[in-house]
Amino acid sequence: MSVLDYSRYYSNLARSIKASEIRELLAIIKAKKNVISFAGGIPDPELFPRKELAEIARDVIEIYGDEALQYSETKGVREVRETLCKFLSTRKSIKCEPENAIITTGSQSALDLVARTLIDPGNVVITENPSYLAAIGAFKNAGARLIGVDIDDSGMKTSILEEKLRAMSPDERRRVKFIYTIPIAQNPSGVSLSAERKKHLLEIASQYDLLVVEDDPYSYLVFEEGVDKTVIKALDRENRVLYMSTISKILAPGLRIGWLIGPDDLIRRVELVKQYVDLHSPTLTQYITAEAMKRGVIDRVIGRAIPHYRAKRDLMLKTMSEYFPEYTWYSKPIGGLFIFTYVYKSNFDAGKLLPVAIEKYSVAYVPGGSFHVDGKGANSMRISFSYPTYEQIIEGVKRLAELIRES
Ligand SMILES: Cc1ncc(COP(=O)(O)O)c(C=O)c1O
Repeated sequence: MSVLDYSRYYSNLARSIKASEIRELLAIIKAKKNVISFAGGIPDPELFPRKELAEIARDVIEIYGDEALQYSETKGVREVRETLCKFLSTRKSIKCEPENAIITTGSQSALDLVARTLIDPGNVVITENPSYLAAIGAFKNAGARLIGVDIDDSGMKTSILEEKLRAMSPDERRRVKFIYTIPIAQNPSGVSLSAERKKHLLEIASQYDLLVVEDDPYSYLVFEEGVDKTVIKALDRENRVLYMSTISKILAPGLRIGWLIGPDDLIRRVELVKQYVDLHSPTLTQYITAEAMKRGVIDRVIGRAIPHYRAKRDLMLKTMSEYFPEYTWYSKPIGGLFIFTYVYKSNFDAGKLLPVAIEKYSVAYVPGGSFHVDGKGANSMRISFSYPTYEQIIEGVKRLAELIRES
């Protein structure tokens, strides 16, 4: 037991941070055996290429020897950045030289670095509403005020984005630093920005002289034909887009490798900031990632992941259509790992109900309020279909439906 009261030592930042609902939840759920969890966006371990990764890890240490185990450049190992740029130019049509790339410790650290590099307290960031809760957290930690733009089946409503910017006073407009978007198979809704809106978003960014921060973990996991999978960075003529992605959903999140691509001046600034955050991201897993790219391991995981997650999504949607009451609405994700649901029943509060869901119904989700930047969304929840088995998806959806009806 602590004798001291440590709270007087805490910084304002540490004092202001609330526990991440997902992180807390994962701990509770792990401890309780029979809970069916639709909470975290956790990749199905069935897709981890264990054997190939074991071989690669051995080869990397044998081939690169001490270099793979040594400190390395803050920006990331040059050879790794070269491999990454080739990967991104063939898979995503992104023009990239090693100077445009920085390797990060997952894309969460890219979000944190972007926030530290671009945001001063009182600055404004515009996001989709709902948006990824840990991006919202990273921007808030840096002191940003967030303005949300509603989404529909074609992603962020860019006409509303334009209206909001137009309606701002010149002083407020000057505070806006960037538009943050997850354009393809968004977290938490699974919707995608249409081709017209991507173009429109870039036009708006240009007109108001804003940067665009594009977070793209899910364009590799699109299940439908006909979805525009072009990343905004590939359309970026004015070099306004900072693009980030990760191997977390297409190889293994435990390797903690992500990347940020942008104009070299800006990347250089991010590099200076990163020096004092973690010196560099893990050298060994950088080499492993590059080797997995070169040997086609990532492409093979993606090839298996798409039908795998598509089947799970289909099953979850089908079960929801059978069991969820008519006063619920849920997104029809075209990819990614999530479905977002609203329950239109008076006083329904998914956050307050979560302990009941876990204790009495043995099912877990992430309350939707944390994905909203405007305090709304208490009646919503994010449910993920990636990790549970088929049987758990059916049983878990039945339990959720019961919770909703009986609440
Ligand atoms: C939109 C989005 N951005 C960033 C991340 C962070 O991913 P990681 O740090 O594992 O690369 C996630 C993880 O779920 C995500 O959904």
